[in-house]
Amino acid sequence: MTDIRQMAEEAADELHTMADMIRWSVSRMNEAGIYFGHGTDNPWDEALLLVTHALSLPWNIPENWYATAVTRSERLSVLELVLTRIEQRVPAPYLLGVAWFCGQPYVVDERVLIPRSPIGQMIEQRFAPWWHGKMAAGNPAPERILDLCTGSGCIGIACAHTFPDAQVELLDISFEALEVADENIQRHGLSERVMALQSDLFAAASGQYDLIVSNPPYVDAEDMNSLPQEYHHEPELALAAGEDGLDLVHIMLQQARQYLTDDGLLVVEVGNSWPALAQACPSLPFEWPEFERGGHGVFVLQARDLDAFSHQYQQK
Ligand SMILES: C[S@@+](CC[C@H](N)C(=O)[O-])C[C@H]1O[C@@H](n2cnc3c(N)ncnc32)[C@H](O)[C@@H]1O
Repeated sequence: MTDIRQMAEEAADELHTMADMIRWSVSRMNEAGIYFGHGTDNPWDEALLLVTHALSLPWNIPENWYATAVTRSERLSVLELVLTRIEQRVPAPYLLGVAWFCGQPYVVDERVLIPRSPIGQMIEQRFAPWWHGKMAAGNPAPERILDLCTGSGCIGIACAHTFPDAQVELLDISFEALEVADENIQRHGLSERVMALQSDLFAAASGQYDLIVSNPPYVDAEDMNSLPQEYHHEPELALAAGEDGLDLVHIMLQQARQYLTDDGLLVVEVGNSWPALAQACPSLPFEWPEFERGGHGVFVLQARDLDAFSHQYQQK
């Protein structure tokens, strides 16, 4: 038996309150050098999530509840969950089966990346100040939106909530991911306006979209080799994208123009691969928004910015 299993046995007898369980979990996670980055950024919040989940409570219970007693069988459930988090390095949202994005819950499991894109902040701000859309025609909201590489569907579904008259398509190459996206469409009650389709990049796209939004795989080979263990629970197909992380993004840039309306907008996350992209495509006037709640490496391009670029590509 490992040390931590012995410590958990003692804890089952000696801890009494929720506060005890949270404090114990924080100490063990600190000792184990757990990585935080899938929904929380510190051991206290992580422990609070795990302990409240195991006790069938919401995470935001009043603090005076922390002093309440936990029965022995409840303690065993909490300890088992915390041990799984530590021993197997499973990110908390997979253990809980839910992740939060733009203030809404999304079903997640190991078939999809855990939602965390800073594009969420742009959705909350209705893509201002970049989305100009059809203002001239008196209709400022996008009518057709494409979420390319959708995973759980979080980006497209959040767009559908923000723009309640828009039709939204969610595309992903992974059939397993699309099963999760479909479940999220149903749970969010959006099946009349949001559709999930299997597609290698734009293969199943049809017509033109006012907004194309994407958080594709973009981790380069060097970063893939140094990812904390937690990331290895996420699908490799959702992360790796060749030597410089830009395999898919280059194809997107070459093909996006034909799927964008003339006033359309392309928004793509490339994370740490942004300097490589800016260097590889010096003729493109990328704009790189800054994010109050963290995150970086999301570019914005207007459809017209892509005219010359797509034309050059078609001539090659
Ligand atoms: C980084 S995850 C993003 C998921 C989701 N958009 C989010 O932000 O949480 C990338 C997704 O791209 C999908 N993908 C990988 N290659 C693809 C391709 N060639 N065409 C379409 N989707 C692809 C993966 O299956 C994965 O679901």
